[in-house]
Amino acid sequence: MADLTTDFIGIKSPNPFWLASAPPTDKEYNVRRAFEAGWGGVVWKTLGSEGPPVVNVNGPRYGAIYGADRRLLGLNNIELITDRDLFTNLEEIKRVKADYPDRAIIVSIMVPCEEQAWKAILPLVEDTGADGIELNFGCPHGMSERGMGAAVGQVPEYIEMVTRWCKLYYSKPVIVKLTPNITDIRKPAAAARAGGADAVSLINTINSITSVNLDTMSPEPSIDGKGSHGGYCGPAVKPIAMSMVSEIARGEDTHGMPISGIGGITTWRDAAEFITLGCGNVQVCTAAMTYGFKIVQEMISGLSEWMDSKGHTSIEDFRGAAVPNVTDWNQLNLNYIAKAKINQDLCISCGRCFAACEDTSHQAIAMSDDRTFSVIDAECVACNLCVNVCPVEDCITMETMAPGATDPRTGKVVQPDYANWTTHPNNPSATAAE
Ligand SMILES: Cc1cc2nc3c(=O)[nH]c(=O)nc-3n(C[C@H](O)[C@H](O)[C@H](O)COP(=O)(O)O)c2cc1C
Repeated sequence: MADLTTDFIGIKSPNPFWLASAPPTDKEYNVRRAFEAGWGGVVWKTLGSEGPPVVNVNGPRYGAIYGADRRLLGLNNIELITDRDLFTNLEEIKRVKADYPDRAIIVSIMVPCEEQAWKAILPLVEDTGADGIELNFGCPHGMSERGMGAAVGQVPEYIEMVTRWCKLYYSKPVIVKLTPNITDIRKPAAAARAGGADAVSLINTINSITSVNLDTMSPEPSIDGKGSHGGYCGPAVKPIAMSMVSEIARGEDTHGMPISGIGGITTWRDAAEFITLGCGNVQVCTAAMTYGFKIVQEMISGLSEWMDSKGHTSIEDFRGAAVPNVTDWNQLNLNYIAKAKINQDLCISCGRCFAACEDTSHQAIAMSDDRTFSVIDAECVACNLCVNVCPVEDCITMETMAPGATDPRTGKVVQPDYANWTTHPNNPSATAAE
């Protein structure tokens, strides 16, 4: 049986699935039930300074984007950090940690960008016995207007400075949670490393307006006729999150940094993909909010079965395995040639592939009078659009041409091995081994 336990920057948990800082981790009641359901750890909903209470809106705080089957694809929120009393939260964290010593509890914190504010809260958090802290430099709304959250996460110098304070006034691991609302994710990650962070976690939510009500002319969710941008998360953000994770995993100043992967993780497969890109564990929010805490059981059994089927005995066995295969575009092998192939037994003759290819691509699909669709190899550039628009899974596939065959489109002979090419058409300075 695969061993799912993780040791992430010295924080042990029975599996790599942590709940991200958000409503599911906002209170003792939730976190106890999450642990009973099987979650390996939680990042407690972000705590703020002692002082005036945080006040949330009293109208809808979520917006959504749906797939055709009304499955939630993207969730948008305008919620703030916890609006519960600091000391109530701290007492609850202490109690839950004492009762679940084998689970990870990380405390997310967001206080003003002043040394005194961090110096004041860190000993209180340390006293709870929690395993570490996560610095919320990512919330894109509400708190950022007050100079916190993403307002800090967008300025690498601030990240480094606050991380240093945390390493000075707190003895356990410090995770810096990054905002994706930035052009180059490697800059804030490198700043976190320079400040002494033990790890980064990403992504927090993406600036978004999910819809506009065309009767009231207000963005939704609408509070008394007005809306504000919120933070986008859920399955729709997974590709963005994975790209950012991979940039950190292979970045010159950031590679090797421990990463906690977040963003749209809904299934064991999503989690496995993040781990192959270098993540030591993953965090989940929207999937738990959509399907409930027990979704972790499918994640655990699915990951475990897949690992068994591949012979992976531990998470470390395959962590980062895909990183060497993430490369720059100019390193892609232009001598690799594939062609689309339509499985006539599966084809339902809907014609979507034909419409897409004929109108917008390479006119590489022929339609007969009886609506049989076939690929014209001499025109097909293997762009994959027909595969993407086909409603039937595996009906259209990309078939790699065998070495020695001639591409009828270009007359080019398929090479046995890229390494045998002395110059790369995209990168003439690269010469391959003899
Ligand atoms: C309603 C809601 C509230 C959130 N609150 C916080 C928060 O207090 N602190 C934080 O660091 N992230 C917060 N997040 C962001 C999540 O922790 C997570 O980074 C993001 O939702 C992406 O993960 P997901 O796609 O699995 O939801 C919140 C997300 C949602 C949906």
